[in-house]
Amino acid sequence: MSTPIDSTKYGPWAVIAGGSEGVGASFADQLAAAGLNLVLLARKPGPLEETAESVRRTHGVEVRTLSVDLTDPDAIKQIAEVTEGLEVGLLVFNAGANTYGHEFVTGDLEKFGKVIDLNITAQLELVQLFGAPMKERRRGGILLVGSLAGFMGSAQISIYAAVKAFCRVFAEGLWLEMRDYDVDVVEFVLGVTRTPAMARAGLNFDIPGMHVSEPEDVARQAIAALTSGPVQIAEGNEKAVSIRSGIDRHKLVLGAHEASKKMLPPSHDD
Ligand SMILES: NC(=O)c1ccc[n+]([C@@H]2O[C@H](COP(=O)([O-])OP(=O)(O)OC[C@H]3O[C@@H](n4cnc5c(N)ncnc54)[C@H](OP(=O)(O)O)[C@@H]3O)[C@@H](O)[C@H]2O)c1
Repeated sequence: MSTPIDSTKYGPWAVIAGGSEGVGASFADQLAAAGLNLVLLARKPGPLEETAESVRRTHGVEVRTLSVDLTDPDAIKQIAEVTEGLEVGLLVFNAGANTYGHEFVTGDLEKFGKVIDLNITAQLELVQLFGAPMKERRRGGILLVGSLAGFMGSAQISIYAAVKAFCRVFAEGLWLEMRDYDVDVVEFVLGVTRTPAMARAGLNFDIPGMHVSEPEDVARQAIAALTSGPVQIAEGNEKAVSIRSGIDRHKLVLGAHEASKKMLPPSHDD
């Protein structure tokens, strides 16, 4: 099913940070189907080129790629160079799954720092790089991919949960600031989604009763939610968000902790 998207508002170029696989590859396919040219960013050159080639072949749009680790301090400079002269009407910040699961006090601060660098530092840098010209032009869109994890603290992923909470609150403020300039901002919150990264992390997708989304579905929903910011939730996760927003935090946090022990290995390190 194709996604209605206003290419005059969000084009002619879209940048997808984390545009090589999973939800990012679905964003690439669906945005290209709407006629947007793409700049795809990710680390592994293989899946990046595969997605770029498939999108060019299927939709006939221009696709540039940059193999870059968004946590590298000079990533933003490389991205500015590869997008020099392009009119970027849409930024999708999708990269951001957790890379390090460990209890905090004995964990590796540098590895926790990478989770912060990706989800906070790189996200903020890209939002400024592309958001400022959007404000000038008085058109565009910024789509940030969030997580159900950002609604509650969790053992082993305390930093990931906290950065996702940061991103959600940031999206709300950004939405307020940009709406006066006709730039749409939305954080689209995902629950468990069947992506290659989660499969590699050993996530158990088969827990009875657990809602699992498919990448192409959440990408379609997220694109459709662009004008409905500041925060929208992937279908099937509304109840989980509502429960996590309750005020009896002690009971909520312990209950969710028991449930999540069945889902993920106790600690992981990419
Ligand atoms: N999957 C889920 O169950 C789930 C649940 C809730 C929220 N989310 C959110 O959904 C988004 C996508 O998650 P995902 O499961 O697809 O995993 P992901 O590891 O965020 O991967 C998504 C894309 O980002 C790229 N990427 C990851 N780290 C990068 C880095 N340091 N520099 C540049 N590119 C990077 C990946 O390619 P490379 O690996 O080649 O770099 C891939 O193209 C994330 O923001 C995540 O927090 C996912």
